[in-house]
Amino acid sequence: MIRALNAIHAQAHVPSTNQEKKSFANYVLCWCEYTHHHHEGEEKFLFPECEKRVPGSMHENVEQHKAFMDGFTAMESYFSQVRLTPEIYDGNKVQKMIETFGPTFTKHLTEEIETISPANLAKIFPVEKDLENNFKTMLAWVVKTSSKTTSFPWVTFLKTGLIKKIITHHDQTTAPWFLDMIPSIVVFLSRHVFYWFNKRYSIIQHG
Ligand SMILES: [Fe+2]
Repeated sequence: MIRALNAIHAQAHVPSTNQEKKSFANYVLCWCEYTHHHHEGEEKFLFPECEKRVPGSMHENVEQHKAFMDGFTAMESYFSQVRLTPEIYDGNKVQKMIETFGPTFTKHLTEEIETISPANLAKIFPVEKDLENNFKTMLAWVVKTSSKTTSFPWVTFLKTGLIKKIITHHDQTTAPWFLDMIPSIVVFLSRHVFYWFNKRYSIIQHG
């Protein structure tokens, strides 16, 4: 998530044609959708269960979610407009928007790691199976409610025999382990079928 946000900031002045601006907007909106979904899953499944067991254990995480939400949704609604009316695109504005909520957002993602580290979760879930069940329920919800034509192609990996590659991930060795739990058929469809629904945003097909 941080890498994608950095990429959006770094590439903000690159789109110049309307097609490029639309394509960029679609990329940003996929990121927004995936990021929303990630935090929603935490707040729906993992955090309430942690709070029930150890009150206050996830309080700071929820507060941090709220802290970056205004800036985050402002960027999301701006790019929804850009996708419809690419002429309004302004790279300076995008960089300023990211600079408004980016530090809070990255601080949250950095600090959250400790709270959901294996050591901390082991204290909250003394019975490992309970954590595993909670995680499986959350993952099933994520797979069921994620958009198959945007989030899936954006995040899933390509699996060919024993070789796995995250489609949008530049460093395969640091890719999240849980993607391995996604059924191969979903991976295949994401890679070869679902992305076609958004191919109109590709700048490659339009030269
Ligand atoms: Fe979070």
